[in-house]
Amino acid sequence: MSAMNEPQQPDPNLIPGVKHVIAVASGKGGVGKSTTAVNLAIALSQTGASVGIMDADIYGPSIPRMLNITEKPEGEEGKKIPPVTAHGIKAVSMGFFMDEDTPVVWRGPMVGMAVEQLLRDVEWGELDYLIIDLPPGTGDAQLTLTQKVPLTGVVIVSTPQAVALADVRKGVNMFKKVDAPILGIIENMSYFVCPKCGHQADIFSHGGAKQEAEATGMNFLGDVPLDSSIRENADAGTPILIAQPDSPHSAKYREIANRVIELIAQSPKGGKMPNIVIE
Ligand SMILES: Nc1ncnc2c1ncn2[C@@H]1O[C@H](COP(=O)(O)OP(=O)(O)OP(=O)(O)O)[C@@H](O)[C@H]1O
Ligand SMILES: [Mg+2]
Repeated sequence: MSAMNEPQQPDPNLIPGVKHVIAVASGKGGVGKSTTAVNLAIALSQTGASVGIMDADIYGPSIPRMLNITEKPEGEEGKKIPPVTAHGIKAVSMGFFMDEDTPVVWRGPMVGMAVEQLLRDVEWGELDYLIIDLPPGTGDAQLTLTQKVPLTGVVIVSTPQAVALADVRKGVNMFKKVDAPILGIIENMSYFVCPKCGHQADIFSHGGAKQEAEATGMNFLGDVPLDSSIRENADAGTPILIAQPDSPHSAKYREIANRVIELIAQSPKGGKMPNIVIE
């Protein structure tokens, strides 16, 4: 069984064709990780990049629904599993291999093994970005990922209220402990604009994630409002970037994706080799 104090080397041969692995994480459940992961993946792919998304949420996989994937990948005996392509991105979900109505009662090490399999046994091919949609919190899926894959960075999603931000700190500390670089934080459900009168209501308060980022030296990647069109399109399997590419909310996701691209370009894993000077 893996443990936090048992350092493991990431395996560079697990997903050899993938340039950047970006994990989308949150301290608390239900803050919009999967919605953000899907829209971030699509925004990245709309820049011309090749993008995959892996649904590592064993307990509540939601990527198949959000991308409207109903078929299961057709695997051949002894070969890697081909991902399903939806809205221009390659997707694989634990949900493909599970019965929707059967509760998952796996123990920790099994969760870790399943996450590893979704990396190793899937034909991801050549990808610029592989987005990993994590379950909430700091459990076995997170640990396996940080131990097995050289992560380019972690994107933290939070709603703005204090109770969510308290959990963000726990998540950030966990990723820091295992030396996973944090790209920054996104404030989801940041504010609500009344469609009738245009008034902005700060339902979960507003700006908390930005303050948290500033206080802890993290990058702030952007905010996304609470809006029924984001939920409806996600639930219908046509993410807002596909259904309403010209909406202001889609622009928000594009801004976040551009921020992520910029930060990756500046990061040590950004494709540029460090300058090594031999004296
Ligand atoms: N900005 C938003 N505006 C309106 N609804 C949203 C927004 N972001 C997410 N939602 C909705 O909130 C619900 C939870 O979102 P989502 O499933 O993405 O959260 P999650 O953090 O992945 O949850 P879990 O922790 O269960 O994996 C969904 O119904 C989704 O459509
Ligand atoms: Mg989710």
